[in-house]
Amino acid sequence: MDATALKVWLDHVNNCPWPYALLLSLGALTFARFTFKTLVVFFQTFILSGTHLKKFGAKKGAWAVVTGASDGIGREFAIQLGSAGFNVLLIARNAKMLNDVAVEIATKTKSTVETKIYLIDFAQSDNFKYDGLKALLQTLDVGVLVNNVGKSHTMPTYFAETVEQENADIVAINVNATIRVTHAVLPGMIQRKRGLVLNLGSFAGLVPSPMLATYSGTKAFLETFTSAIAEEVRSDGIVVQYLNTYFVVSKMSKIRRTSALIPSPTSYVRTCLSKIGFSCGAAFTGRPGTVTAFWSHALLDYAMHVVGWKTRLIAYTHSLHKDIRRRALKKRERDAKKE
Ligand SMILES: NC(=O)c1ccc[n+]([C@@H]2O[C@H](COP(=O)([O-])OP(=O)(O)OC[C@H]3O[C@@H](n4cnc5c(N)ncnc54)[C@H](OP(=O)(O)O)[C@@H]3O)[C@@H](O)[C@H]2O)c1
Ligand SMILES: *[C@@H]1O[C@H](CO)[C@@H](O)[C@H](O)[C@H]1NC(C)=O
Repeated sequence: MDATALKVWLDHVNNCPWPYALLLSLGALTFARFTFKTLVVFFQTFILSGTHLKKFGAKKGAWAVVTGASDGIGREFAIQLGSAGFNVLLIARNAKMLNDVAVEIATKTKSTVETKIYLIDFAQSDNFKYDGLKALLQTLDVGVLVNNVGKSHTMPTYFAETVEQENADIVAINVNATIRVTHAVLPGMIQRKRGLVLNLGSFAGLVPSPMLATYSGTKAFLETFTSAIAEEVRSDGIVVQYLNTYFVVSKMSKIRRTSALIPSPTSYVRTCLSKIGFSCGAAFTGRPGTVTAFWSHALLDYAMHVVGWKTRLIAYTHSLHKDIRRRALKKRERDAKKE
């Protein structure tokens, strides 16, 4: 606003009876705030680039550690972080698939970076395996940790009917693995005064998801855990972020075709790595540490926040999951008949 516009505005307000003036000012303030927030979301999502990976030790011998690196989103993080100049520690269960990822990284980088593989089944909560991983991590200069490994329910199921083992596995993988691996890596990062920790999140952590209750709860845990740690280590030069994710093409999502709302792991991860330190669609929504990076996910997140009405969203998710369950059961029946 220039000086004349301000004067006109003040005259206008002065000539109003005071209740109107108050409402008018309040309205103008609300509108200005909304415009400002929307502009920040827009610029972070569509225009600006986040913190450069160099800040976390790319091309300086630092390591990137990726859990669940044999497939899907984790595999892409491993490949793109390798291409960016990190040595990569690949963690999952399937040795052959991890080896394929290591070969792809060697090919793409002309063997300018190193790779290591560590086999562990996070569902087993095996202390011996965890100790081995911790010992290995302590020998590495870890610049980036991606807590990507995750498990969801086989299909939407009411909590009362969910098999206990499935709940235990989901908690062991989504919660325990993240806590233990982060705990093994963070002290070194604090000592070196640099680091990036990315935790894979989900819209199921944002909207409580009926029929995926345990999965939904573990993702909400990760969101809060991320915010808390992010504040603890901010002054140590460490960035900790929760990557709020809608659907991505993968084995877990069981979606094979990309669309505006559903990117491939390649474009999803490329976006995440270009928005480090930003919030994008999660800006000003009371979730510090969370970033909703991919453009359509960002718009969806922001729109959901503006509209509010969570009760309605939960009910919608419930009916959606009932439908998905119905179709999954039909498919299971068809597959059984084929055999
Ligand atoms: N895809 C989506 O639409 C979507 C949406 C929101 C959030 N996310 C989150 O993104 C993350 C990655 O999902 P994704 O879609 O890429 O899944 P994915 O394609 O199924 O890959 C999962 C990875 O985790 C590993 N893994 C699974 N169970 C394991 C265990 N018990 N121990 C060790 N490693 C294990 C798998 O390798 P092995 O089989 O070799 O062990 C694989 O490398 C998860 O945290 C998920 O919640 C995904
Ligand atoms: C998670 O870790 C805790 C403590 O380390 C352990 O007591 C618990 O059994 C683990 N939970 C699962 C589901 O493995």
